[in-house]
Amino acid sequence: MAVLAPWVWVLVGCLSAAVAEDSGTTTPYPPLWEESPEQLSDYRFEDGKHIINPWVFTDRMGLYRILLTQTAVYFARYGPENEQNLLWGLPFQFGWQYKSGRLVDPTGGTDCGYETGDPMCVSVDSWWADVNYFLSVIPFLAAVDSGILGISADQITILPPPLDQSKFCYGVSGCQELVRETMDNWTAFFKYMQLPSSDFDGLLEHLWTAHTSSLEYPVDVFPDRYAYYSDQEAKFEENWAVAVNYLAAAYLPTTMNRTYRFQKGLPPRVLVDTDIAPFISNFTTLQNMVLVSLTALGDTDRLTGSASLTAWEFIMSSKAARELFLKAFEEFLGTST
Ligand SMILES: *[C@@H]1O[C@H](CO)[C@@H](O)[C@H](O)[C@H]1NC(C)=O
Ligand SMILES: *[C@@H]1O[C@H](CO)[C@@H](O)[C@H](O)[C@H]1NC(C)=O
Ligand SMILES: *[C@@H]1O[C@H](CO)[C@@H](O)[C@H](O)[C@H]1NC(C)=O
Repeated sequence: MAVLAPWVWVLVGCLSAAVAEDSGTTTPYPPLWEESPEQLSDYRFEDGKHIINPWVFTDRMGLYRILLTQTAVYFARYGPENEQNLLWGLPFQFGWQYKSGRLVDPTGGTDCGYETGDPMCVSVDSWWADVNYFLSVIPFLAAVDSGILGISADQITILPPPLDQSKFCYGVSGCQELVRETMDNWTAFFKYMQLPSSDFDGLLEHLWTAHTSSLEYPVDVFPDRYAYYSDQEAKFEENWAVAVNYLAAAYLPTTMNRTYRFQKGLPPRVLVDTDIAPFISNFTTLQNMVLVSLTALGDTDRLTGSASLTAWEFIMSSKAARELFLKAFEEFLGTST
């Protein structure tokens, strides 16, 4: 952990630098938020069911918009305007994937996702899109199952991708079969949210448990996608999946403002083979440093056989340590007094 700790702090430092650059401007919604469905009836209706195609950007973003809207009431006591809703992390992340070109067909075999072709298309060959499926459709179906949306499972149809249909699931029961634990962990999050006794820390704990659980299956099942990317991008994808576990252990609060600022440190386009951080000339210093930190974190994790994560989780299992980490994080963010 002595090896690890400095890198975590560098990462925190990088993220905080992003904030300094951005003070004073208002936080915009994720891309195409207003164009995405806000309620079930905004989706196409056919044969008594609402048809959701998560391989269309606005359809998938709409799942988030509905989730954010319907859960606002449970976050109202933590701050105004749904800013404190911890689910903001997900649509902002998905929005960054879209804006940075990570949802396009990486093989170039189709025009899926490309500005000049089918810009709303989300490619099933995109590693990012596949992983995000389990962070969008799965939480949505778990929310349906938990009753929080006031929608029943038989009111919706989730359309399959053009390829690899058997690697995904499309309804509550199918997903309980494919990724039972992940569904259970998301359902637990939505059930906990509805308890009068729920608190912010508990919400964070449940959220991050569900979030990291969502990554397990797709990271296992879609390693073939790495071949479609440059070595640099493939490494970034692997390191990203590792880093999420460390952020999860620290219960990073993914509220609207914080998540939006966090995004500024992420690479604004897909990496190519000549992109060697910290020397990527048209990336900001911050973006270069975040990539360096993620590489260091990923290397440390692999080198220690995840013992560094175990050590980090052990430290962060103490509420006092988490508070210390978050307090420092907040101070870096410049939002505490
Ligand atoms: C979120 O950021 C906006 C400006 O971007 C600011 O006006 C608002 O107070 C912030 N909210 C919180 C809870 O920090
Ligand atoms: C996630 O769900 C599984 C049940 O499928 C359960 O055993 C596990 O304890 C849950 N994880 C947490 C941390 O709640
Ligand atoms: C940024 O750098 C990459 C790789 O060197 C290059 O392909 C791309 O055109 C550059 N973009 C801009 C906006 O300069």
